[in-house]
Amino acid sequence: MIRFNSKKFIEEKIAFIKNEVRDDVAIVALSGGVDSSVTAVLGFKALGKSLKAIFLEDGFMRIGEAERVCKVFRGIGIDVKVYDVQKEFLESLKGIRDAEEKRKAFRETFYRTFSKIARELGASIVLQGTIAADIVETAGGVKTQHNVLEQIGINPLEKYGFKIVEPLKELYKNQVRLVARELGLPDEIVNRRPFPGPGLSIRILGEVNEEKLSVIKKATLIVDEELADIECFQAFPVLLEGKATGVGEDSSRKYGYIIALRIVESNDAMSAKYVKLDWHRLEKLRNRILKEVHGVTRVLYDITDKPPATIEFE
Ligand code: XMP
Repeated sequence: MIRFNSKKFIEEKIAFIKNEVRDDVAIVALSGGVDSSVTAVLGFKALGKSLKAIFLEDGFMRIGEAERVCKVFRGIGIDVKVYDVQKEFLESLKGIRDAEEKRKAFRETFYRTFSKIARELGASIVLQGTIAADIVETAGGVKTQHNVLEQIGINPLEKYGFKIVEPLKELYKNQVRLVARELGLPDEIVNRRPFPGPGLSIRILGEVNEEKLSVIKKATLIVDEELADIECFQAFPVLLEGKATGVGEDSSRKYGYIIALRIVESNDAMSAKYVKLDWHRLEKLRNRILKEVHGVTRVLYDITDKPPATIEFE
């Protein structure tokens, strides 16, 4: 196997982006993750001011994410404009329970929103950080990743009015991290754990609403804080569908939310092993979630590998 050469990759992709965009204006949406960050930096190297960086606050991002992204990118000389589109996204997912339906509804709102913003900014091209695993899973029918269109026969130019350029689409996550390091991105981006494009919307099983969003956001913050030092590919809570009975300290009946914890090791996201987390850590997580996240009565630990499960629940 030929060794991946990140220096050569960067040179080739800068030339590729220049050639694809030419005299047009492009936009790139940052999510705080390594894929979109690498795409943006390659884009700025190729296009300079003809690239506009945006952050979509769609309501399914983690607490403090918009501020974090703006700060990191300001640090490397890139201005990011934040768009608050929470209402549109929440509205578009209303009443949808099925995982695939939800993903498709998210994708539709995502690209419609892009389309509007691109028009406002005079852009006709979207630079997107799609990677190989996203395409393989969507094309293989495992799940509809939010950022895969052309590979499943949807023409973005016809449907949404812009062309999509995907410089990372042959890479897997470990290679993207090599490119990120070569580009000099800060460690907090290079090593950031992956976060799915549809964000917390797919970590609430079944229908999404504001109350459940608040539960999953608080639980996510706790998991991120408690497991920041753990070596793993991903660590996150999921809010299961349905409720479980519990008892309060006053012996009253409680009927509350069920949180599952998912912590996995993986190289390329195509397969994964659950992490045998120390019991003390698990107990601390359980204690904090039960104490600090109102309405949760049960915390479970997922010990399923991929396959047969996927990393996310939806
Ligand atoms: P699964 O759940 O398919 O996840 O085993 C594999 C990796 O992909 C992430 N993931 C997504 N990323 N859009 C994304 O950008 C999506 O729709 C999406 N779904 C899953 C997941 O977090 C894991 O890292």
